[in-house]
Amino acid sequence: MNPDERAIGVDRCPVYDDATLYDGVNEIRSLVDLTFWLRRCREARGRGAGRVLEIGCGTGRLLVPALLAGYQVDGLDRSAAMLEAARERAAERGVIARLFEADCRDFDIGLRYALITIPYNALQHLHSNDEVLSFLGCVRRHLQDDGRLVIEVMQPDIALLDGAPDDEAPVAVLPDPHDSMAVLSVTERRQWCGFSQLARHTWLVRRDRVLVAELPVHLRCFFPQELDALLRLGGMRITRRWGDFDDGPPCEEGRVQLVEAADASHEARKQEKPRTPGYFERCS
Ligand SMILES: C[S@@+](CC[C@H](N)C(=O)[O-])C[C@H]1O[C@@H](n2cnc3c(N)ncnc32)[C@H](O)[C@@H]1O
Repeated sequence: MNPDERAIGVDRCPVYDDATLYDGVNEIRSLVDLTFWLRRCREARGRGAGRVLEIGCGTGRLLVPALLAGYQVDGLDRSAAMLEAARERAAERGVIARLFEADCRDFDIGLRYALITIPYNALQHLHSNDEVLSFLGCVRRHLQDDGRLVIEVMQPDIALLDGAPDDEAPVAVLPDPHDSMAVLSVTERRQWCGFSQLARHTWLVRRDRVLVAELPVHLRCFFPQELDALLRLGGMRITRRWGDFDDGPPCEEGRVQLVEAADASHEARKQEKPRTPGYFERCS
């Protein structure tokens, strides 16, 4: 991997420096996925204390409703601005969120969870396999024995991820969060890079039609079989897969990959047969 490619991971994703703009643009996402994540939290309740950690929790779009629904969810994110917005969102709704500012490639918060989630493509900010493996190592250290990791990434559709250099796909039109008199429009330029498997997208932000920012959002894409192989390499085993937020099965035309995995060494230990005593043990 050439050094330039590493540098465009989360280390240069300015979209997460402006949480208000991020939330405004992503309002379109709304809460279509919330019930999926709440179902996973409910299942986690059956495993020990049922604590959940959401990695890349951002502004608390999913985390705060999960807290309000009574689940014990902590959040971890690398962006101080996003976490500040999550804290505010929680306070406005009268709940307290335990939030950790950390990088998911290298964290140790000394806690174990029944469920660790990484929703809405946050894993796609890890552009190299080494980064993904470091992430999986951290996850395994924070999962309780019967714990589960649930990942959401896009199912890559190259036709959708690529575009002509001058094409701009509409993303959102919203009141300027910093100036109520102005209107922001956000469009997206898309480029698919086949070797690095990067969807190199750029948000073009215009205030009253004047271009005010160009923000790169570069997402590494994972093909379904590759995700399976990476999880195995990282010491995990896939336990379930879904192709939509209604728990439907994966399918060829699917847009999302939702994958649940467990630590393979815990799973193997669970399946070990009880040992029958050896001859000398029986005689003693
Ligand atoms: C697309 S947002 C998702 C936010 C939230 N989970 C949601 O669904 O609304 C991705 C989040 O991942 C965070 N992130 C990206 N790379 C990260 C890393 N290496 N460590 C921790 N957080 C990271 C970003 O700061 C951002 O808040």
